[in-house]
Amino acid sequence: MKSSRIPGFYNKTVDERREILQSLNDFSEDEMGVLTREQSLPVDLADKMIENVIGTYSLPLGLGLNFLINGKDYVIPMAIEEASVVASASYMAKIIRDAGGFRTESTGRVMIGQIQVVGCQDFQLAKKTLLEHKEQLIKACNTAYPSIVKRGGGAQDMDVRILNESSESKYDKMLVLHMYIDTRDAMGANMINTMLEALAPTVEELTDGKVYLRILSNYADRSLAKATCVIPPHLLVSEGFSGEEVRDGIVHAYEFAASDPYRAVTHNKGIMNGIDPVVIATGNDWRAVEAGAHAYAARFGKYGSMTTWSVDEEGNLVGELELPMAIGTVGGATRVHPMAKLALRILGTESAEELAQVIVAVGLAQNLGALKALVTDGIQKGHMALHSRSVAVAAGATGEMIDMIAQQLIEEKEIRVGRAKELVAQYTK
Ligand code: MEV
Repeated sequence: MKSSRIPGFYNKTVDERREILQSLNDFSEDEMGVLTREQSLPVDLADKMIENVIGTYSLPLGLGLNFLINGKDYVIPMAIEEASVVASASYMAKIIRDAGGFRTESTGRVMIGQIQVVGCQDFQLAKKTLLEHKEQLIKACNTAYPSIVKRGGGAQDMDVRILNESSESKYDKMLVLHMYIDTRDAMGANMINTMLEALAPTVEELTDGKVYLRILSNYADRSLAKATCVIPPHLLVSEGFSGEEVRDGIVHAYEFAASDPYRAVTHNKGIMNGIDPVVIATGNDWRAVEAGAHAYAARFGKYGSMTTWSVDEEGNLVGELELPMAIGTVGGATRVHPMAKLALRILGTESAEELAQVIVAVGLAQNLGALKALVTDGIQKGHMALHSRSVAVAAGATGEMIDMIAQQLIEEKEIRVGRAKELVAQYTK
């Protein structure tokens, strides 16, 4: 089994890292070509994806390491422009690995499609009629998209609600039909919207109303993925801080986010720092995931923390992250974008349910990294360490020289390429 524990990976050159990746996965030349050629997304292909194309836009792609999830090792492709994120996720994944790894689960792959009906003479009667025709409506959905039924999914159930029933206004009184659709490994947006549009005339007939919106809901609360970790305090020890101090600081930090939206937004932004890069690398719709995640953080009527952190009876730090995950491994950009295809190969999964679980595990690790830094040295120290390393590399430092020069730049409080070049010259004299 391939291991995601690759000590010293960060110190290698890009070419050496690619060689390691190749040896782990036995990728073909074609697959490696996606990484090595100038543009991972050829402009001809980009031109077929969106309108008015003039080029493509690149982001750094790094590997999150050390992830052990339900006993399986994952190397995690992350596309992101922000320094420290990949390093922090990998470092926290190492701590969690030493504590036994992440446990993850999910509630399945049921997405929701909504049909809005207005102007019914009798809304209660319209609701009753729709519910009486439930089987017929589910069947009509599946007839409109038979391939999903062949893949073992499709519309399964349905529900009807009346919104603003006692309102006098003709605009806000409406009936909303929810169709529950198992999209299997697809995110399902096209599938769901096709089904709903096919269903709309029948819904109008049955309700004697007018259908306006026919669209999926990005609040995918029937496609939840959850990650947990249990960390003994000795694994949290940080220079100048006991494990218990770090543990308690993290729980205080969580309670802050749980109680205050100003903090919760930043706390959750840090979680999305881990989630979005994997969603982007795998060609998924990060806007959909962001929208669903933030709505889920407000499900109790107040915007709060996406994660929870507590202390169990043995004194361990217990972390949990549960989020809606409207993602897929087939269809859309996941199958078109060469880098997205490669990302799934690196992850070693074709299953959307598995990918959803990996994504929340990365989000949980990222949150731990941010909180651990914030309750100890503050985040600037880590940022500066990484920044000074990249300045040293930019100045031509190699091997052991990188860390020595980076350290000196920090001590001199002068993290500049010019100064780093002088140091490189001194060391290589
Ligand atoms: C920075 O991108 C993310 C953090 O602000 C997250 C947090 O405050 O929890 C460090």
